[in-house]
Amino acid sequence: MGQNIRLAIQKSGRLSEESLKLIRDCGIQVPASNGTLKAVSPNFPIEVLFLRDDDIPGYVEEGVADLGIAGGNVVEEKGRNITTIHKLGFSKCRLSLAVPKEFAYQSLQDLNGMDIATSYPRILSGFLQNNGLACNIHEISGSVEIAPGIGLAGAICDIVSSGSTLLTNGLKEVAVVYHSEAVLVGSPQTSPEKQQLIDKLWFRIKSLQQAKNYKYILLNAPETALPRIKELLPGMRSPTVMPLATTGWVSVHSVIRENDFWEQIENIRAAGAEGILVIPIEKMIL
Ligand code: PRP
Ligand code: ZN
Repeated sequence: MGQNIRLAIQKSGRLSEESLKLIRDCGIQVPASNGTLKAVSPNFPIEVLFLRDDDIPGYVEEGVADLGIAGGNVVEEKGRNITTIHKLGFSKCRLSLAVPKEFAYQSLQDLNGMDIATSYPRILSGFLQNNGLACNIHEISGSVEIAPGIGLAGAICDIVSSGSTLLTNGLKEVAVVYHSEAVLVGSPQTSPEKQQLIDKLWFRIKSLQQAKNYKYILLNAPETALPRIKELLPGMRSPTVMPLATTGWVSVHSVIRENDFWEQIENIRAAGAEGILVIPIEKMIL
């Protein structure tokens, strides 16, 4: 029997849904966990472990899991001996300093000497040190945002995503300490058999990610506009050009970076293109 790789993902919370979706989008079936801790895929040699996000770096370091999907914030805070294989581009949030909204904040210096409550003492102390601030860090494991209200601390350092938690607690964000997103982590030593499976999984994830950055574009243009349009839409190798039934006209198919799209679309139209269609790409193998 071949070996399975074990992937740890968050059981419930901000990362869990998208982590599972990512694996499933890779064509890997994962049975619904129904509260169990482990699910074995019927079509890929992988076991998915459903764990608390804070525990994932530790499990990967100890080799209980070969891979994990965790927040960059948690990985950084835990400081475990694991490797970040890649950023995954979802669950973007920031670890920020916040103070009561009445606080007349002007610069970081205003926080010097204050009591700051956080679940991220390691990241915070690094940040304070880099900025020449000396503060008292109060480590608490949750509900950090109530600390100022109950007089435990004058400021907090916590995860901000939509900002609604800060708002409902009468706090305002004053400085970003760390930009976070979901990351794929692995153990520094892996057997060649497992590494092969990890590479296979990573190849699929990469194809999905690349696809997200690009769009498929189709358009009609007079033949005379082709040289200019080819310049604007170089595509993967070069665009596909097909004749239309109307003489002197062609259909051009290519791919375009999502980020360049709005910028380029005006140039493409100015070059004479019409009937432009832009279609999402599901997977992209370069
Ligand atoms: C964070 C943080 C806030 C909330 C902020 O907790 O502690 O409570 O998210 O999000 P918002 O800006 O969208 O309101 P998280 O969900 O990461 O849970 P955990 O720290 O307990 O794992
Ligand atoms: Zn957590």
